[in-house]
Amino acid sequence: MESKSPFKSDILKGKVALLTGGGSGIGLEISRQFGKHGASIAIMGRRKSVLDSAVSYLQSFGIPAIGLQGDVRKQEDAKRVVELTVKQFGKLDILVNAAAGNFLVSPEDLSPNGFRTVLDIDSVGTFTMCQEALNYIKKGGPGRSSTSGGLILNISATLHYTASWYQIHVAAAKAAVDAVTRNLALEWGTDYDIRVNGIAPGPIGDTAGMRKLGPEEISNKSREYMPLYKLGEKHDIAMAALYLASDAGKYINGTIMPVDGGLWLSRPRHLPKDAVKELSRTVEKKSRNAPVGVPPSKL
Ligand code: COA
Repeated sequence: MESKSPFKSDILKGKVALLTGGGSGIGLEISRQFGKHGASIAIMGRRKSVLDSAVSYLQSFGIPAIGLQGDVRKQEDAKRVVELTVKQFGKLDILVNAAAGNFLVSPEDLSPNGFRTVLDIDSVGTFTMCQEALNYIKKGGPGRSSTSGGLILNISATLHYTASWYQIHVAAAKAAVDAVTRNLALEWGTDYDIRVNGIAPGPIGDTAGMRKLGPEEISNKSREYMPLYKLGEKHDIAMAALYLASDAGKYINGTIMPVDGGLWLSRPRHLPKDAVKELSRTVEKKSRNAPVGVPPSKL
């Protein structure tokens, strides 16, 4: 059964959002939820067929939507797509950077070009899109009031908070995305009234990322260690995005919100709870009777 939005259906009424990677996965679900809550949607992606079917899908919910082909690694594409979005809808309120590249590989097997490719898509691509959007999304931009800027939302991950196997390139790329989020929040929040926030998804079911990175056998096993014992849904990420994009989030700037069920904090449980109770009482009893900080007498 589809999860329902707890938000009112007009919280993004009149807003215009451009989403990179908006044609599939998390990006598409954010597009759909933004659209269902009143926004007009432009999605950017590399593959025309993917964009076409995503646009039809969005339109089937009555959402005003267009697809714009382009690669975030190409500055001319970024510029053209932002311009076309504004030409179509008159302004730009929200930019979501959800385009990402990923594959599993060990550091010794990863070529420098493979490392660079993911940084180019995730980190440089995010920066390029932000820069090309600036003149439209800042306060006083076309169709905007002179006091109110828009929102940039960058999708990263939690895997660089610690370290992850076979993800050195992605961890480096997402760490850079988070740095872009914080630095722009400071600089463009101050100068242009643009809020810049991030969402760091954990493992989200039914996405290309999950199919690539967490085959069923692995994700079933890792579920045992998760605080909430379950994968997230694309819906969970879209609800966080809606919160940050709506007026509910109007004082939130420079925040990167993990939406991972607490997974990045989690560790396997080595002792069952009952054993901890027993052990803890015994150790406590012993320690109360033992002198603290006094070396045992040698006499
Ligand atoms: N293992 C090791 N290296 C890989 C790789 C893999 N699975 N896939 C790509 N690379 C390397 C290539 O070997 C190449 O490096 P080289 O020139 O030294 O050989 C480099 O990455 C670029 O590969 P290429 O296929 O030319 O890049 P692309 O621009 O066509 O593809 C990717 C981009 C690699 C990110 C591709 O996986 C992709 O487009 N994925 C779709 C998006 C996605 O993954 N979404 C999920 C997000 S979580």
